[in-house]
Amino acid sequence: MKTILVTGGAGYIGSHTVVELLNSGYEVVIVDNLINSNIKVLDRIQSICQKRPIFYNCDILDKVSLEQVFQKHDFSAVIHFAALKAVGESVREPQRYYTNNVSGSLILFELMAKYSVKKIVFSSSATVYGDPISVPITEEFPLSATNPYGQTKLMMEQILRDIYAADREWSIGILRYFNPVGAHSSGLIGEDPNGIPNNLMPYISQVAVGKLECLSVFGNDYPTHDGTGVRDYIHVVDLARGHLKALEYLEANGGELIVNLGTGTGYSVLDVVKAFELASGKVINYQIKPRRSGDVAKCFANPAKALELLGWQTTYDLEQMCRDTWNWQQKNPQGYT
Ligand code: NAD
Ligand code: WQD
Repeated sequence: MKTILVTGGAGYIGSHTVVELLNSGYEVVIVDNLINSNIKVLDRIQSICQKRPIFYNCDILDKVSLEQVFQKHDFSAVIHFAALKAVGESVREPQRYYTNNVSGSLILFELMAKYSVKKIVFSSSATVYGDPISVPITEEFPLSATNPYGQTKLMMEQILRDIYAADREWSIGILRYFNPVGAHSSGLIGEDPNGIPNNLMPYISQVAVGKLECLSVFGNDYPTHDGTGVRDYIHVVDLARGHLKALEYLEANGGELIVNLGTGTGYSVLDVVKAFELASGKVINYQIKPRRSGDVAKCFANPAKALELLGWQTTYDLEQMCRDTWNWQQKNPQGYT
């Protein structure tokens, strides 16, 4: 039985990945400091899987506590989700982002080396493509960052490539996610942002449920089919399954893997509003507002490499993403609390 250490496993993408891991027969150990998640997610995971992951309330910056976790378990790989992820906050509090995301990861990698756990799947982001020269985006596109959060992802990718270059016993999977949305079909786990959501889908679903009044659409003068920003929304369950495929790939081939995880299809803000209205039967009030600084017109993946190397492709469409978001939102109007 393989045991996987999942950092940030109580969070949005982490919890969905833990469900897929448990359902595929892996043992799972979660390390999470609950800075952006809720302990109740463990009961929910247990309800879905009839199995409970082992959980440590531990900050990855706390090397002593993290080392105790490595001493207690024999991990075959690490999936590393733990990070702070709010772009605007990262501009206001850059040091906190660099410390948490970069220093925290360095401590994790040091312990992985010490305990000879040299297989890792890392959560990167389409943000590493900055303002892309064109779409769809392939993995060879130039990389850049437009904010400290994105910079931490670029730095982590570089650190992992350097670790692999120095020691070929490591195997490294860098997964560049596009825009994760949706929730598990049970409605038991989903995205539970603190305060007012920054991201489009949770904002829309809180308008639909009556928690927020009106969506601000940030700009309708982009060079897109209706003037609003175009993104590659991917169902979180498809994304979670990509991590299992990446683990299997690294198990079989070793080496260094860098892949986009997206659907390959771009939808505008207004496309998402319409799809959500259909899925929920609710009217989404919106107002056009100025562009949000740092936003790009279009961002969507060429996911061909993930299909070729991992045999992975997405299975859920935008309608299903909206239905599952709405199901989670209705069943949990206050999130986990
Ligand atoms: P999330 O905030 O729901 O999950 C991250 C988890 O990590 C949380 O449970 C948080 O409590 C934990 N965490 C943060 N710092 C920690 C620390 N120092 N020690 C221990 N635990 C810590 O976010 P998510 O959306 O599930 O994102 C998971 C990963 O995917 C992150 O690395 C994020 O940057 C990346 N990512 C997310 C998106 C997205 O839009 N959601 C897109 C691309 C990449
Ligand atoms: C999507 C579209 C907005 C909110 C961010 C991070 C990225 C990655 C995923 C982690 C854009 C528009 C949004 C609103 C709106 N995260 N919008 N009104 O900006 O593509 O990506 O999350 O790695 O790094 O930057 O996602 O959901 O914020 O925005 O009109 O209230 O919706 O302008 O066109 P984004 P998003």
